Amino acid sequence: MIKRTSVLFLIPLLLLSAALSGAAGRREQPSEAFSAALPVPPVLEAETAADGTKVYSMTAREGVREFFPGASTETAGYNGSYLGPTILVRRGDRVRFRIKNELEDATSVHWHGAHVPAEMDGGPHQGIETGAVWSPEFLIDQEAATLWYHPHLIPTTAEQVYRGLAGLFIIEDEHSDSLDIPSEYGTDDIPLIVQDRKFDRDGTFAYGPGMPEIMHGYQGNVVMVNGAIQPYLDADKPLIRLRLLNGSNSSIFRFRFEDGVSFAQIASDGGFLGKAVAMENIILSPGERAELLIDFGGRKRNDTVDLLAETSSGEEYRILRFRMKKSFTADASGAIDYGSPLNSIEKIPPGEASRERRFVMSSMGPGGRLTINGKRMDMGRIDERVSLGSTEIWTIENGSGMGGRMGMMNTPHSFHVHDGQFQILDINGAAPPPGEAGWKDTVLLWPGDRIRIIKRFEDFTGIYMYHCHLLEHEDAGMMGQFEVLSP
Ligand code: C2O
Ligand code: CU
Ligand code: CU
Repeated sequence: MIKRTSVLFLIPLLLLSAALSGAAGRREQPSEAFSAALPVPPVLEAETAADGTKVYSMTAREGVREFFPGASTETAGYNGSYLGPTILVRRGDRVRFRIKNELEDATSVHWHGAHVPAEMDGGPHQGIETGAVWSPEFLIDQEAATLWYHPHLIPTTAEQVYRGLAGLFIIEDEHSDSLDIPSEYGTDDIPLIVQDRKFDRDGTFAYGPGMPEIMHGYQGNVVMVNGAIQPYLDADKPLIRLRLLNGSNSSIFRFRFEDGVSFAQIASDGGFLGKAVAMENIILSPGERAELLIDFGGRKRNDTVDLLAETSSGEEYRILRFRMKKSFTADASGAIDYGSPLNSIEKIPPGEASRERRFVMSSMGPGGRLTINGKRMDMGRIDERVSLGSTEIWTIENGSGMGGRMGMMNTPHSFHVHDGQFQILDINGAAPPPGEAGWKDTVLLWPGDRIRIIKRFEDFTGIYMYHCHLLEHEDAGMMGQFEVLSP
């Protein structure tokens, strides 16, 4: 547990990334800006078809943005120039999308974290050619959670996400309605998509990873929130809920608030935790989400509190400033309820598993390649066959620990599985920390880590992916396919 929150965090890659960052000709994160309000992605409006299906329309296209005043950046977005609208659905909804690709290249739209039929998943098999429209349709059949969507073609995922193609996908249900937590989207229930970027002087995104940057993941020196550099957010209420997504390509962030403002984690990737968990900081690898509650009780009007993000090489960025709109009285017991249950999570019994599999992630596969079980992704090959209705335990190992913790091949990886959520059984033999004891779809593995997960494969047959969610690794082939088959 200590290991996951602190020890390893400062070590990796410092020397190499310093050598590669080539600061000349690049824009830097301002030390203090906080002059523009945090943009909040709009909620996508649906039309309701005669049979009750909610129909959503999105267009992926290129655009232009001024992230730095006076310098324009070529971007891409859904229904806009950068990022996409928030898709807000309810459990039990039948939804259909009309996704038009107006990009110059083929793309796809994957519903990260969703339990949907394989043909609707938006993975590498569901490409949308330029000019084409893709219309997936599915039932929302999972609990309230903060999911997200992004392109998923090989090998263009990393570059397309970098240009701005990503958005949130929020599911609500009767249970989330009943919880006494902030839930006014954009007011006290705030989406935060955190992404690091590198910009050239003229404002262009400097995306072009070389071999070492593919190996270590492409890392930026500007950290944006919802596509803005150092925005502020006016806090009208003492208790704020944040839906935090690490939407970076490869940077792992440790988030904390300055001057020790207390906060709790209330949800992980796939739903609410059993109870609110008090935290001092939280680490999210690319693709992971967490919902947090922050308590501003006792702060005075015009006080500020900054949200900080620290990279694994130890640089810390001030990424968002909360400004108190009024003075908030301190509730002696605090505004966060740590006592009441938030969710009842049925632990999947390990005894239910009928099969175990092992996945070894390596940065030193054949030919210095990024591999899982020694293989690179091949769309024509099914790596694992899983039987529908079964439960399995998967052991995942980050075998990139060779050369010691300071070694050049000492790369963190993550493991993401499509087709819904799993639970973590143990991390290096120990129970997961409370913030990772709920529903997960992506898990971080530091070099040498060994993690066991348990998952049910229900409802749908077909081909799904598992992969490292460091996007440069994913595009380089650190991915495999499992097919769910009727027994
Ligand atoms: Cu978020 Cu297979 O991806
Ligand atoms: Cu996914
Ligand atoms: Cu990786």
